[in-house]
Amino acid sequence: MRVEPVPALEGHVAVPGDKSISHRAVLVGAICEGETRVSGFGRSADTEATIEAVRALGVRVDEPEVDALVVHGAGLRGLREPSHALDCGNAGTLMRLLAGILAGQRGRFELVGDESLSRRPMERIAGPLRTMGALVETTDGHAPLVVEGSELHAVRYELPVASAQVKSAVLLAGLYADGGETTVVEPLPTRDHTERLLERAGADVRRAPGKVSVRAAERISLGELEVPGDFSSAAPLLVAAAIVPGSELTVHGVGLNSRRTGLLDVLERMGARIAIYNRRAIGGEPAGDIEIRASELVGTSVTAGEVPVLVDELPLFALAACHAHGDSVVRGAQELRAKESDRIAGVVEELRKLGAHIRATRDGFRIRGVPARLRGGRVDARGDHRLAMLGAVAGLSSREGVEVVGAEVVETSFPGFFTLLGQLTR
Ligand code: S3P
Repeated sequence: MRVEPVPALEGHVAVPGDKSISHRAVLVGAICEGETRVSGFGRSADTEATIEAVRALGVRVDEPEVDALVVHGAGLRGLREPSHALDCGNAGTLMRLLAGILAGQRGRFELVGDESLSRRPMERIAGPLRTMGALVETTDGHAPLVVEGSELHAVRYELPVASAQVKSAVLLAGLYADGGETTVVEPLPTRDHTERLLERAGADVRRAPGKVSVRAAERISLGELEVPGDFSSAAPLLVAAAIVPGSELTVHGVGLNSRRTGLLDVLERMGARIAIYNRRAIGGEPAGDIEIRASELVGTSVTAGEVPVLVDELPLFALAACHAHGDSVVRGAQELRAKESDRIAGVVEELRKLGAHIRATRDGFRIRGVPARLRGGRVDARGDHRLAMLGAVAGLSSREGVEVVGAEVVETSFPGFFTLLGQLTR
């Protein structure tokens, strides 16, 4: 896919429903009593894998519209052992959260993933689930995983890495754990969609600074759930508008949970012109319309403490920093090496090919900004949707355009991405 330079981006758009919340709506809906009616569902290859996984576990899911689902919950202990392995595709969220739920079911479950997911660390969930009493086998620390449901007991677990996926796996298993509260202690705040959703479903969730607890539940039910737009899908559009001079763009109905929107704070620090309108709640999450206008940017440092609130946006931050006055640095982001690809290596090597001055460190990047368009060239998406979108945004703000090799991987999270991009450019 070739992305040509544009003079400016402008318009009003909406993005698909939040991927993290869409996965959780289906997974939690599957263990609810009765129907969960989901609107604004973010349909993508990842979230379709979640629908197929719960279907294989005996849950009926109707799809009356492309962004509407009805999940017919099987109840907390109602999932059935499938006849085949559950295919999680590229979706780490699916594999890790589902393992937490399966730990409390009757049966033996095998979870497999694609090549990228099979390289990602799985002991980080297997370890705490075992301490709760589950039988979990990994393949040298990776998928395929085998989970055998057992009697679980409550634990207090201190996360060694700030990970919402690991936190969520333990909390979901906590719904089945005897002996009081299951508590997860976080080194840094990570996205809290699971705790919000469980609370909404009637589970006994307690939150305190730095920790969250859940007690075993008899039954949970969600009823209706509207999913806000995905901030991580809005992010490429926002960064494009921030760096292409003359741009003015509004993304409507986007989730603004502060544990997701670190990029907005960082861009504001760099001098971006951002305004939020129509603040409201969508499905128990803060949301609103984000307006952004291009401006001159200055470099900044992203500290380790900020990383979890913009973890999926750090590649885009790197691109914005390439266009800023002065130097930028990202520290404490070694988790980027454990994503769909090694995003430290990928971002640095691919942006350098376009003429950027960026180098990798063990735990992040260093960038020398030049407030001008990058030359352009070829970007290899490396099977990673966030790198494909990074290459596309770089193309819009380049002098010569960018050929994004393997661009179709955007389907993982944002199937209509290139069509939408085409509508914003003149
Ligand atoms: C996610 C959590 C993050 C994020 C991923 C989605 C989630 O991963 O990178 O894209 O939905 O919980 P970690 O929690 O492993 O950092």
